[in-house]
Amino acid sequence: TSGGSDAAKRRAGESAAEAVADGEVVGLGTGSTAAHAIRRLGDRVDAGLDVRGVATSFASRELAAERGVPLLDLDEAVGPDAPGIDVAIDGADQVAVGGEGDEPATGVGALIKGGGAAHAREKLVDAAADRFLVVADPSKEAPVLDRPVPVEVLPAGRTAVAEAVRAAGGEPTLRRAERKDGPVVTDNGNLVLDCAFGAIDDPDTLATTLATTPGVVEHGIFVGLADEVHVGTETGVRIARR
Ligand code: A5P
Repeated sequence: TSGGSDAAKRRAGESAAEAVADGEVVGLGTGSTAAHAIRRLGDRVDAGLDVRGVATSFASRELAAERGVPLLDLDEAVGPDAPGIDVAIDGADQVAVGGEGDEPATGVGALIKGGGAAHAREKLVDAAADRFLVVADPSKEAPVLDRPVPVEVLPAGRTAVAEAVRAAGGEPTLRRAERKDGPVVTDNGNLVLDCAFGAIDDPDTLATTLATTPGVVEHGIFVGLADEVHVGTETGVRIARR
């Protein structure tokens, strides 16, 4: 949806898709970078790879089906007698990375997700996975998260949640649809407030504040979930680990 070149996104997505092993259950993320991973997985399925995907959105389910990736519902993938999710591959709107100045990024920290309004299902799938691989381009990397945080809210709670966000130092904006006169409605039938907090020095505390606000269905701060970030560049792929 934003930032870097499609070639960089493709390198990132394909690198993560190559890290999937035969027999695994794979969480399928949302967005233009994760779509490259889904397409590559489809090619690998054509070549004989045995995987099953768990979609994070209507869009990722549709793409996986089109590309021949067999699908499982989340409820079939997790549970007492279920196979579990081995690996999730998903994009991000911003990734906190370590490293100083011009040094290559080291380590992966918290993420901001939800640019595609899919973060509630994404968090379910990404958190359930044994390994979570983030796919990104360099425009997503930042030493400190500072993008607006997407917050999915129950329609009846939008004013109350907006007030709570202001009290927490944020500025909420109802996300409007581009080709419809009105708000974005999520795959779950809810609304999205994009909440600008400026630099987020303590994502953990803000995540807790948002998660404990009545009316919030899910927020887009992902703390402690990412195991690796595959960053596609103009020439290759860098992989940073937790
Ligand atoms: C979807 O809700 C987001 O979390 C996406 O993962 C994010 O917007 C990344 O999309 P792009 O890969 O298109 O930037």
